[in-house]
Amino acid sequence: MSDTTPRLIATIAQLREELRTVRGAGRKIGLAPTMGALHEGRLSLVRAAKAECDCAVVSIFVNPSQFGPNEDLAKYPRTLDADLALLAGCGADLAFAPSNEEVYRAGHDTWVEVGSVAEPLEGVFRPGHFRGVTTVVLKLLNMVQPDAAYFGQKDYQQALAIRRMAADLDLPAAIRVCPTVRESDGLAMSSRNRYLSAAARQRALVLWKSLQLADKLVRQGECCAPAIATRMRELIETAEDARIDYVALVDPETLQPVETIAGRTLAALAVRIENTRLIDNCMLMAGG
Ligand code: PAF
Repeated sequence: MSDTTPRLIATIAQLREELRTVRGAGRKIGLAPTMGALHEGRLSLVRAAKAECDCAVVSIFVNPSQFGPNEDLAKYPRTLDADLALLAGCGADLAFAPSNEEVYRAGHDTWVEVGSVAEPLEGVFRPGHFRGVTTVVLKLLNMVQPDAAYFGQKDYQQALAIRRMAADLDLPAAIRVCPTVRESDGLAMSSRNRYLSAAARQRALVLWKSLQLADKLVRQGECCAPAIATRMRELIETAEDARIDYVALVDPETLQPVETIAGRTLAALAVRIENTRLIDNCMLMAGG
């Protein structure tokens, strides 16, 4: 694997030119879409793209259309130089970092709306979020035309909505979902972790601990979903200033709530710690 900084590309025309040669040589293209502020979680998507494909393209674009009016678009970290240095270590070939104007040209007025899997959980607390995500992902897929595109399990609902879109719109790219990468103490890696003070970061561990609690309860034979959710909430509420948006035990395909844990059930949560909104999830296996 080379340690060369990936070639930085800012326009769709230049991207297509580069990829024409790659495709012409019969080489497979993998896309890892990101919003930059890279960390090991995002880099694992690039590594997966490079492992499976010949040419790994990383998009770095803070997509304004997926942020609500009161969200953190303005303060979202933009760290292009550091991102490029990190990408050099994981074999990325091209870094595509377009401007807002390049992605949303004047008059842009077409949007992708995924149906029911985009409605619960994040869909309730971040209206319009998935419309922005699926629109930009479809645009990136059209710009790059990869053989496969890589997303993280940490954004479970996002990955599900993208899989739904890809199936419904007959997109040719394979959609791969890679495991959540955690810090050694269990905190799921996220660009937003850098907003947390040291003390808040410690309190944020309660997300992972509550997921572990759910896993333990299921392994001990508890199968009443509301009872498990209550225990998770009680644990999260022990962390000073933790504000729960949701703690949900849902069917992993439909995201509809379940009453009884039977087979695979997704435990998903969103919690604000010191005004930073964090999400995490894990799969519970009854009898597993
Ligand atoms: O997961 C993200 O970082 C973003 O939602 C994505 C997929 C890059 C679209 O902007």
